[in-house]
Order: sequence, then structure tokens, then C-alpha cells
Amino acid sequence: MREELAAVLANIEDGVSEQVAGREFWRGRLHGHEVVAVQARIGKVAAAATAAVLAERYQVDAILFTGVAGGLAEGVRRGDVVVAQEFLQHDMDASPLFPRFEAPLYGRARFPTDPSWSERLARAVQRALPQAGLHRGLVVSGDRFVASAADSASLRAALPDALAVEMEGAAVAQVCLDYGLPYAAVRTISDRADDAAHGDFQQFIDETASRYSAAIVQALLV
Ligand code: ADE
Repeated sequence: MREELAAVLANIEDGVSEQVAGREFWRGRLHGHEVVAVQARIGKVAAAATAAVLAERYQVDAILFTGVAGGLAEGVRRGDVVVAQEFLQHDMDASPLFPRFEAPLYGRARFPTDPSWSERLARAVQRALPQAGLHRGLVVSGDRFVASAADSASLRAALPDALAVEMEGAAVAQVCLDYGLPYAAVRTISDRADDAAHGDFQQFIDETASRYSAAIVQALLV
């Protein structure tokens, strides 16, 4: 998000920006690494397009995604951190042509993240935010902000191992699979995807999200 990108850009050296497809891509050095930093934008299509530009135009070696998510599984609380092991689109349903959740022509519903980047990311979270609860597992994505107890209960019933819900990660995972790019993703829990989600989300974005993601990125790259 914009707030998270601003916190990363505050540490970038020799940053040069370029507009591509209506997005501002920042190239520069971050803690000694050549990076391209960009706001994914919101929703699966927007994030997939951003990822495709990173792959095609910038030829990046890997994609690291930071953001916030709604907690779904019991025990995944506001302020906790989730490092994704795999992603699924919870609103993909081409049944009866394909099983519910399966991405057509991929023969799979679940898209993995890169194990070694994800391990490094989880260790970075522990160093940067030792007090935060850390979870690893399935994160689900869809084109809606989940903002009712009824909606999150139905997602939990359909996908009992889902830890958290957001709106982009599975799309980027699919693009990374297409391009053979390693992918790792971390999400801080801003809300519980329930009737209070909207207010909790906004407060978390304003007060906490950018500090968390900048601290995690720094711990990962130094
Ligand atoms: N990102 C953060 N909270 C979310 C929610 N409740 N639903 C979808 N995406 C989110």
C-alpha cells in the first residue's frame, strides 16, 4: 500500500522512478540490494499486472510482497504476522468445469511460495518483531474486502486451514509460477475480517502497517 511503499522509499538510495502502466516503479539500492519498489495496487487483476511488469520489464530475480490481511483462523490476531506458504483464490469457481477453487488450466488451486525465501522472511519477522505472533501456512485472496462475521465464517468453513484473507497474494503467486520467479509474501493482520474489520483496518494502516513492513524488509535485506 501507499503507506508501506513510502516507508521503504525513505530508505532507498539513488532512487529513480518511472511510470509504467499507470504505476510508479522505483529503482534503487535498499540495504545494499538492487531493488524495484512499487505499490501492487488493490485486487487480483491490478496486482497481477504489476507483477507481470516486474517480471517482463524489470526482469527481477524474485518478488517479495508485504501487506496487511484479515485474520481468519482462530488465534490469528490483530498485530500478528503471517508468512504465506501457499495461496489460493477463494473466489475462483469454474465448477462444474473444474473443481471449486481450481485455477482453470493450471490443474491446481494452491500456488506455493518459495520455501527458502519464505524461511528467510519468517526469520526476519522474528528478528524485527519478536513480540508479534508468527503464523505460516495458507493465505487466501479474492476481490472483496471481507467485512462481516458471516462472510469470514463461510470462508473458514470452506477452507479450514486458511490463516488469513487479502486481495492480491494468490494473483501474484500465479504470475510468479508462470514466470518461474521465486515469491515470498508477508502479511500483518490488520483486522479479523468481521463486522469491525473496516474500522480496525483503517486504524492499523494509519498507525502500524508501514512501520511493520519497513522493519521486516530491513531485517530481511541487511
Ligand atoms: N486486507 C486486510 N483486511 C482484509 C479483509 N478483511 N478482507 C480482504 N482483504 C483484507
